[in-house]
Amino acid sequence: MKLNRRDLIWIFPSAITAGFFGWLGWRTVYIQLLKTGVGAPVWKDGPKVQVASVAKLSTPWKFKYFRYPYAGGSLRAVVFSLPKAVPGGLSVDDKHFLALSRICTHLGCTVNFVDNPELGAIAYNHRTDHPFLGCPCHFGAYDPLQAGKAVYGPPRYPLPRLRLEAQGQELYVTGHEVPLRPLEES
Ligand code: FES
Repeated sequence: MKLNRRDLIWIFPSAITAGFFGWLGWRTVYIQLLKTGVGAPVWKDGPKVQVASVAKLSTPWKFKYFRYPYAGGSLRAVVFSLPKAVPGGLSVDDKHFLALSRICTHLGCTVNFVDNPELGAIAYNHRTDHPFLGCPCHFGAYDPLQAGKAVYGPPRYPLPRLRLEAQGQELYVTGHEVPLRPLEES
């Protein structure tokens, strides 16, 4: 079939429009759906470091930032209390805790614990009814109630967990999940 100039006037814009909507559809699926699940962690032993007291995290969604030494340096991390138990977390009596790396599994920015979901919806474009972890670089979001699973934005993998132990009224970290993405790949 021979195309003339008049045909090209509508073929080019149509192709560009179809390409744009195709890209938009793929991007929507990628951002919303293609996320790796969170199962039982594989731990790598590390130094035992006191990170918080149970009393300081006595009610759900209290959190504390800390650093944890690992082979490549000093890992930014967060420990917080949860309203329910999650895989890889620690439960003491009726209290539940989880510790996560704060290194975004997309490109390695430092994520923040967003304890105000309303402000989080404005700042991170992610609407939820409970606190989450948000990355300021490309607005990735991770869900604490799904043990750190990536739930929005470019990150595909969950935040690596850190192993918690309780001794008396103190919480310790004694190792981290492997692979320690994005610092180590599987
Ligand atoms: S580095 Fe966190 S979303 Fe890109």
